[in-house]
Amino acid sequence: MVHVTPELATVAKVGGLADVVFGLSRELAIRGNHVEIVLPKYASMRYDQIYDLHEVHRDLWVPWYDGAIHCSVYFGFVHDRKCFFIEPHSGDDFFDRPAIYGYPDDVLRYAFFSRAAIEFLWQSGKHPDVIHCHDWQTALLPVYLYEFYQRLGMTHPRVCLTIHNFAHQGVVGGELLRATGLQHPERFHHHDRLGDPRYPGMLNLLKGGIVYSNFVTTVSPRYAFETKDQGQGFGLEGVLHAHQIKYGGVVNGIDYDLWNPEIDHHIPARYGVETIEAKYDDKRALRQRLMLADNEKAIVAFIGRLDPQKGLELVRHAIFYTLERGAQFVLLGSSPDPAINADFWGLKRMLNDSPDCHLEIGFDEELAHLIYAGADMMLVPSRFEPCGLTQMIALRYGTIPVVRAVGGLADTVFDKDHAARPLHERNGYVFNDYDHAGLESALGRAIACYHDYPGDFRALMHNAMRTDYSWNRPGQDYLNIYDYIRNG
Ligand code: GLC
Repeated sequence: MVHVTPELATVAKVGGLADVVFGLSRELAIRGNHVEIVLPKYASMRYDQIYDLHEVHRDLWVPWYDGAIHCSVYFGFVHDRKCFFIEPHSGDDFFDRPAIYGYPDDVLRYAFFSRAAIEFLWQSGKHPDVIHCHDWQTALLPVYLYEFYQRLGMTHPRVCLTIHNFAHQGVVGGELLRATGLQHPERFHHHDRLGDPRYPGMLNLLKGGIVYSNFVTTVSPRYAFETKDQGQGFGLEGVLHAHQIKYGGVVNGIDYDLWNPEIDHHIPARYGVETIEAKYDDKRALRQRLMLADNEKAIVAFIGRLDPQKGLELVRHAIFYTLERGAQFVLLGSSPDPAINADFWGLKRMLNDSPDCHLEIGFDEELAHLIYAGADMMLVPSRFEPCGLTQMIALRYGTIPVVRAVGGLADTVFDKDHAARPLHERNGYVFNDYDHAGLESALGRAIACYHDYPGDFRALMHNAMRTDYSWNRPGQDYLNIYDYIRNG
């Protein structure tokens, strides 16, 4: 099977999608499958993390507008994963740019990449039985497959499309049809095909992917429901309904080799469920590193992209509320949007004198590990959250998630006091309403439990660390989906 993806940890990562392809591809390989990954050859990749990179195909001609663009394909290993990187020549700079995303022609860049990927699979005679695409960036691949390549005899591959976030869909004007050679505008603009439901006259790549793929997943069952039935599909609710028999949610896993407090080399003290005491050495180290006061207080943390999706007003409120309730707050994150960063810099200056608070605006892998290990609670107050990886990592480190009950957060965190679950499965604190009162209802209980009922809090930490969110189960779920579409 082949994954076609715009991102892959550890070489080309913007968000969680990169980690998912990294983790899932390994799980599938461990289970005895032949797995390959196709991605663009970005100038901005971490080349030091690609092993044995070499050119394997120097004459890939990819149809584009009235001609074709000349590409090379490189092969290399990214931590054991077999990867093919596509590089356009003939003067085209689609991926030869300082960043992965953020350009006015992004939709055309990825429409091109999807074409190049399928053209490569066709020309190299690979004929994979399953092609697994990710997000709008690769959603045009099944459209090309069906419209062009099946006719040429490429009848075998079935396509599974995983949607990591409905907020990004790849919406573009009729230029797409000229660039790609998809003929008959009336046909593709039709609401049954690529016609965007919200912007008349525009085409929507993600929608095309939903219509043409053999199976479509998103990254949690709850988010599948929210996008189809609760108005969270950013306009694609109708098309999800029309295709609901081939639509479902699979909760992501996290990489337990990378995120494991028992072997984590980024943290000074390693620990497991039985040796949880050592977690407090990491807490001390965290305080030392961030120059926080060493006291009896709980540490509440937030780690993530500073994106409006993540519930930034509630994060801001949580900082003040935490300090008011006599606990400490640590934040690590940044945004590609300078205005948002500036806002958090303002906040940082305002709180600068507090010995109980540290905001780190940026990203630092090692500090992230130390925070997961050293904090007591991890706040994830998202507006919406397709899956969310932070809460799963936090659980693994015995750091209690405090989350809003949306998407994957609702599927993975179960409230200590209210969940309709056996006691040993309760692993965090959950709130419903996206407002201050909602947040306080959960965070307040968490802080109170930490300070007043340490025994209960300890039991919760054990439950958290015992929750299994490895790739084991989702790996099997995807194999079942592949089987289903192969035989369909
Ligand atoms: C996106 C979603 C996030 C999910 C990740 C991986 O970044 O916003 O919720 O965990 O994709 O699927």
